[in-house]
Amino acid sequence: MEFDGKVALITGGANGIGAGVARALAELGARVVVADVDQERGKAVADEVDGVFTHCDVRDPESNQAAVGLAERQFGGLDIAVLNAGIATGFGLGEDFDPERYRTVMGVNLDGVVYGVNAALPALKRRGGGHIIATASMAGLVAMPLDPVYGANKAAVVGLVRALGPVLSADGVTVNAVCPSFAETAIITGFKDTIQAAGMPVMDVREVVDAFLAVLRRGKGGECWFVQSGRPSEPFAFGTPPGPRTADGERVAVRSDRLTTDQEA
Ligand SMILES: NC(=O)c1ccc[n+]([C@@H]2O[C@H](COP(=O)([O-])OP(=O)(O)OC[C@H]3O[C@@H](n4cnc5c(N)ncnc54)[C@H](O)[C@@H]3O)[C@@H](O)[C@H]2O)c1
Repeated sequence: MEFDGKVALITGGANGIGAGVARALAELGARVVVADVDQERGKAVADEVDGVFTHCDVRDPESNQAAVGLAERQFGGLDIAVLNAGIATGFGLGEDFDPERYRTVMGVNLDGVVYGVNAALPALKRRGGGHIIATASMAGLVAMPLDPVYGANKAAVVGLVRALGPVLSADGVTVNAVCPSFAETAIITGFKDTIQAAGMPVMDVREVVDAFLAVLRRGKGGECWFVQSGRPSEPFAFGTPPGPRTADGERVAVRSDRLTTDQEA
């Protein structure tokens, strides 16, 4: 089987898109660790795919490390980290702003990916390389007036993945993002009517899961693959922002390959 012998960790794997990815990878031969705060659903998915469940709150760095540790102990290593846990906010920045919920949302949607990458990297390197996929969103590529802080979180994940792409490729680790439009999961329950009244299609989870498989097979690193109804998924083509010019209006030659965290480059 295609992913035979590969070990995948999936945060937010108890429901929706994460559960779909867990089932698809297991069907293709991977061993799966389901990491989630939803113990009941998480255990059920893990049992279904002959994997293991671990209670993991992605807002906590140690919880991410423990999930990676379990993958290594249970299955001998880690090859694929799907950093997928995410929540909607339910507030704007007006009178409905909820500072406590704000920290929670930032913790799950952004810290969860940062801590997940940090925890997975040493294990992926021990295998000589591997894959990280972060679940961003179309909300990270377009304006998201429906949920501005969620849009900001997902835009941050997009920026993170684009920046990490070239940094991690040196270690044989490809890191990409998947950016789905609306899909039929619990996260859209509160605003599904609004989406549909606006004429926006809601995709089946399987369409999003297929995009994850495409990214694992063909993703080059630093890419953000859109998943949009009726279109094949592919990396989003970002525009090139204006570069610096001299006072005379001449282009400034910048060695962008030197703008890296690796000071030896
Ligand atoms: N469904 C959509 O329309 C859509 C569109 C774009 C992006 N996404 C993203 O897809 C990802 C998966 O969401 P989904 O649509 O499957 O929704 P979902 O609600 O079905 O699944 C989200 C999962 O994340 C888990 N989770 C929440 N907080 C957690 C925490 N602190 N630690 C660990 N796990 C936690 C939940 O228990 C749940 O299992 C999210 O990142 C979401 O933002 C969803």
